[in-house]
Amino acid sequence: MRVAGKIAVVTGAYRGIGRACAEALAGEGAQVIALDLMAEAPDYAESSIIYRQLDVGSETDWQLLAEEVSARFGRVDILVCAAGIAPTKSGAHDVTMADWEHILRVNQTGVMLGMRMATGMMLGKGPLSIVNISSIWGQVGGTGQIAYHASKGAVINMTRNVAITYARQGIRANAVLPGLIDTEMVRIQKPEMNAATLALTPMGRIGLPEEIAAGVLFLASDEASFVTGAVLSIDGGFTAQ
Ligand SMILES: NC(=O)c1ccc[n+]([C@@H]2O[C@H](COP(=O)([O-])OP(=O)(O)OC[C@H]3O[C@@H](n4cnc5c(N)ncnc54)[C@H](O)[C@@H]3O)[C@@H](O)[C@H]2O)c1
Repeated sequence: MRVAGKIAVVTGAYRGIGRACAEALAGEGAQVIALDLMAEAPDYAESSIIYRQLDVGSETDWQLLAEEVSARFGRVDILVCAAGIAPTKSGAHDVTMADWEHILRVNQTGVMLGMRMATGMMLGKGPLSIVNISSIWGQVGGTGQIAYHASKGAVINMTRNVAITYARQGIRANAVLPGLIDTEMVRIQKPEMNAATLALTPMGRIGLPEEIAAGVLFLASDEASFVTGAVLSIDGGFTAQ
C-alpha cells in the first residue's frame, strides 16, 4: 500500500482523469474524499471513497469542505486538483468575457482555492503533497482555446510558486501535463481536433486516464519525497519535440 492511511482530496473525481486518480489512491490505501460538480456519486471501483458535491470555483464550497475535513480527519495529506473544463475553442479574436471568466474560474481559481484550503490546513503541520493537473497546452503553444491555454499555464506556475514558498515546511507541489487522454472532455471535441493532436504525438496513440493516475500516485506518495516544483509530462512524447 503506497499511500496507506493518508487523507486524499481529489477534485473533478466524478469521471475521467480525476476519477482514475481517486480510485488509484483509494486502491493504495488512502481515504479519498472525491469532489465534483455532479450531484450524485458515480459507482466507484473502491467503496471506501467518500463523495461530496463541490464547485471548485466556489469559496463557500471549499470553506464547508475544510470544516468537514478538519472535524472528521483533522488534516489533509494529499490534494489532487483534476477538475477542468474546455467548453469553447475560441481564440483571441472571438473569445467572450463569459467564456474567459468561466474557464479561468474553474481551471485557475479552482486550483488556487484547493491549494489555499490544503496549505491553510497543513501549514506548520505538514507533510502535504499537492498534484495539479495542467496540460501539454500549459507548456507549449497551440491554436485557439486561449482561455484554456492561459489557465493551464497558470496552473504550472502556481504549482511552482507553492512548491518554492513552502519547500521548507513539508509541503510539496507538482504538476502533471497530460497529452491527449481518452475521456469525455476529448470525446465531445471535434474529431479533427483530436486527430491533429494525435498526429503530433510520437507514440501515435491516445493515453488512458489510468496512465495519468499512475504518475499522480507516485507524486502524491512518499516515494516522491524529494520531488517538488516538477512538471511531469505524460503525453506519449508530445512535449519532447
Ligand atoms: N483528456 C485530456 O486529453 C486532457 C489533456 C490535458 C489535460 N486534461 C485535464 O485533465 C483534467 C481532467 O479532465 P478529463 O479529461 O478527465 O475531463 P472530464 O470532462 O472527463 O472530467 C472533468 C471533471 O471535472 C468536473 N468539473 C467540471 N467543472 C467543475 C467544477 N466547477 N467543480 C468541480 N468539478 C468540476 C466534471 O464534472 C468532470 O467530472 C482537466 O483539468 C483537464 O483540463 C485533460
